[in-house]
Amino acid sequence: MLITKIYEPKDLAKAADELTKGELIAFPTETVYGLGADATNELAVKRVYLAKGRPSDNPLIVTVSSFEMVQRFVTDISLDAKKLIESFWPGSLTIILKINPGSLSKVVTGGLETAAFRMPKNDVTRKLIELADVPIVGPSANSSGKPSPTTAEHVYHDLEGKIAGIVNDGPTKVGVESTIIDMSTDIPAILRPGAVTFEEIENVLQKKIITDQHKVGANEVPKAPGMKYKHYAPSAQVLIVEKNKWEKALIWAKKQSTVIGVLASKEEESLLPENCKFFNLGTDVKSASHNLFAGLRYFDDQADVKWILAAAFPEIGLGKAYMNRLKKAAGDQFFTD
Ligand code: TXA
Ligand code: MG
Repeated sequence: MLITKIYEPKDLAKAADELTKGELIAFPTETVYGLGADATNELAVKRVYLAKGRPSDNPLIVTVSSFEMVQRFVTDISLDAKKLIESFWPGSLTIILKINPGSLSKVVTGGLETAAFRMPKNDVTRKLIELADVPIVGPSANSSGKPSPTTAEHVYHDLEGKIAGIVNDGPTKVGVESTIIDMSTDIPAILRPGAVTFEEIENVLQKKIITDQHKVGANEVPKAPGMKYKHYAPSAQVLIVEKNKWEKALIWAKKQSTVIGVLASKEEESLLPENCKFFNLGTDVKSASHNLFAGLRYFDDQADVKWILAAAFPEIGLGKAYMNRLKKAAGDQFFTD
């Protein structure tokens, strides 16, 4: 078994050295931690799928530190794609572009003629990529089926012994994964909501984009292959609780003979019955997004928690990303009275 080292930002040169040798290094971004490997080293990329237990037809994001790195694989970049890059990079927008055939391994692209590019808003990671001088693949650094990691500890919990190291830069700021936009087709389409909102994108492009990510059946070819896989569902059943339903939800909770996890704000904590455990999401959708995955992991580690009640937020702006992740964890179940 590998010994997984923790690198502090001052040790970046060593971490970059491991990447150039084909080792796997987890890295911080503003959204969630990613699992890095040299995107031009097929063997290294194959090991990413193994470490995560990820299906091999689910392509990986290519994480870059400069626009020049994108140009190594893409020649025709549309004006609209350039506008998005100028407006949102570095930041939480992943852009799907047509690549030059053969310029990236099928192991990275899952055999598609496109690839997903992202430049994270994290100085440490951009420096790491610069030092390695190669783009790195960057799926979220969780075991497949677990929530994305928002701390180095989460990564260590899932991948210890399977990867060479983790660059620790503290908890991530945003907490939910990047927005993904497909710019390889005539009409731009959002494949995953994230911190960069639909409205912000439409403002920059001055045109309508496709924003409805319909559910993909097992036999359909999905636009973002990751969408067809079962997403994180904790062993406890999650119920989403709308703001005006907390009082009733907690009366229901009190009647249950099991332990119930409550992911909500301090306001709800004061009403909690004895058999409930609390995890603070904070008061607004920004703090809730920041804390959601940590909260789900917290309750998942406690075998006696059979239900999790989690706060809903309005599906506007960042709320779209937050509710998208929460609904997946809950299998769309809401508390109803
Ligand atoms: O915030 C994030 O995006 C994080 C951080 C670490 O950068 N990364 C992340 O990666 O969430 P991952 O692999 O967990 O999710 C990327 C999604 C997957 O659902 C994958 O199927 C999709 O992007 N994807 C990758 N390449 C694609 C392509 N060429 N076309 C369509 N979807 C693609
Ligand atoms: Mg992921």
